[in-house]
Amino acid sequence: MRTARDSDRLAVEVADTGPGIPPAVRPRIFEPFFTTKPVGEGTGLGLDISYRIVVRKHHGDIRVDSVPGATVFRVLLPLTVEPVTT
Ligand SMILES: Nc1ncnc2c1ncn2[C@@H]1O[C@H](COP(=O)(O)OP(=O)(O)O)[C@@H](O)[C@H]1O
Ligand SMILES: [Mg+2]
Repeated sequence: MRTARDSDRLAVEVADTGPGIPPAVRPRIFEPFFTTKPVGEGTGLGLDISYRIVVRKHHGDIRVDSVPGATVFRVLLPLTVEPVTT
């Protein structure tokens, strides 16, 4: 994991050396209940929840770069203070 400041945003990168995300699967990974894991193993909720928290609630962004052996998720969060909404 790596953290950095990207002008007015905080960047948190999480990388792994797993099989990667095939291009055909990539457009669907943030869908709720989408999983490529066997029945009973995946919930398909991890990235849906992450997207809702980071992008919808905090107006950040999640970028993905993936080839076999090198997957990087980059979470961007605004550092500028926004008015509090309830
Ligand atoms: N680091 C990763 N490497 C490869 N594929 C991934 C990775 N993270 C997510 N995926 C793909 O996105 C799908 C959805 O991920 P997620 O929402 O976390 O649900 P789950 O982990 O329960 O399957 C996974 O099933 C997998 O196909
Ligand atoms: Mg997951």
